[in-house]
Amino acid sequence: MSGSNLASRLWDRIRRRDDFEPDLGWVLDDSRRKWMAEHTSGVTKPDPALVIKNLRRTFGGLTAVDVDHLEIQRGVITALIGPNGAGKTTLFNLLTGFDRPDSGSVLFDGRDIERMRSHVRARKGLVRTFQLTKALTKLSVLENMKLGAKGQVGEGFARSLVPPLWRVQERAIEKRAMELLERFSLAHMASEYAGTLSGGQRKLLEMARALMSRPAVVMLDEPVAGVNPALTQSLLEHVRELPIEGMTVIFVEHDMDVVWDISDWVVVMAEGRVIAEGLAEDIGKNRAVIDAYLGSGQGIENPEEEAP
Ligand SMILES: Nc1ncnc2c1ncn2[C@@H]1O[C@H](COP(=O)(O)OP(=O)(O)O)[C@@H](O)[C@H]1O
Ligand SMILES: [Mg+2]
Repeated sequence: MSGSNLASRLWDRIRRRDDFEPDLGWVLDDSRRKWMAEHTSGVTKPDPALVIKNLRRTFGGLTAVDVDHLEIQRGVITALIGPNGAGKTTLFNLLTGFDRPDSGSVLFDGRDIERMRSHVRARKGLVRTFQLTKALTKLSVLENMKLGAKGQVGEGFARSLVPPLWRVQERAIEKRAMELLERFSLAHMASEYAGTLSGGQRKLLEMARALMSRPAVVMLDEPVAGVNPALTQSLLEHVRELPIEGMTVIFVEHDMDVVWDISDWVVVMAEGRVIAEGLAEDIGKNRAVIDAYLGSGQGIENPEEEAP
C-alpha cells in the first residue's frame, strides 16, 4: 500500500464526517507520505486522540503488551485485532487505567495520563463499556444509565451540600438517559430490571450507558459478541454514528466481517506488539497475508473463544 494513498484516504474518511474538521495540513507533505509508506506500524496520524509510547506490561516472564508507538486518530473507528493472547485486552486495560504498565506512557489529547486513575480518565472523556454485572442486573435500565453519568456535578459530597443544584442535575441526567434509551430502542424497558434484557439489549445498554457522559473516546470490547444478527446491525449502526458526533472509537472484535464493515483503521497485534496498521480496506485486502503471518490458519481470530 502506498503511503500517499494511506494518508489521503484516511483524510477522505474523516472528511465524510460533516461537522468534523481536524487540521490535516501535513497530509500533503511528501516527506510525511514517504515516511508513512515505509512505516506501516507506528504510523503518525493527522490528529491523534491517543498516543502510546513504549508501553510495556509483563506478567511474570510473559510480555503481554510491548507497543513502541501507536497513535489513535481522532474521529475515526479503529479496530484492534489479533489472535488470542495478542494483548488486546491488556492494552485496553492500560489505556483506561484498569491496569498499570511496567513502563511507557499514554498521551490523551497530548497529556500524559499515566498517573490518572480509571475514573479520572473516564471523567476526562476516555470511557469503556462495562459488562452488565450481576449487581447491575438488579437495578432498572434507567438506574443503569444514571450510573453512566457518574463523575458529573451533584455526586457525593456536592449532592448533600447543594440539593437544589443536584435536582437540576438529576433532571438533566434523566433527560439525557431517556434520550439515549429512545435512540437505542430501550425506552420501553426503562423501568424494568436490567436483568430482564436479552443479550443483545444488554449490549445496547452497555453502549448507551457509556455515552451518558458524552465521552471523547469510546472503547468497546467486543461490542457484538453473542448478539443475534438483527440486533448486531442495529448496534453497528450506533457505532457508526459515534464519529459523526465527533467521538473517537476503538474496539476489539473477533468477528472479522464486523471489523471490515465498520472500521476506518485497523491495528493488528501479535505477541503484544503492533505488527501492522492501515486503512481497513487495505488491511482487508491483505487478509490472507495477515492470516499466514499470524499462523492461525482459520482467520485472524478464533471466534469460539468468546462465544457466550
Ligand atoms: N492478569 C494476568 N495475569 C497473567 N497473565 C495475563 C493476565 N492478563 C493477560 N495475561 C496474559 O497476557 C497475554 C495477553 O492477554 P490478553 O491481553 O488477554 O490478550 P487478548 O485480549 O489479545 O486475547 C496472554 O498471554 C495472557 O495469558
Ligand atoms: Mg481479550
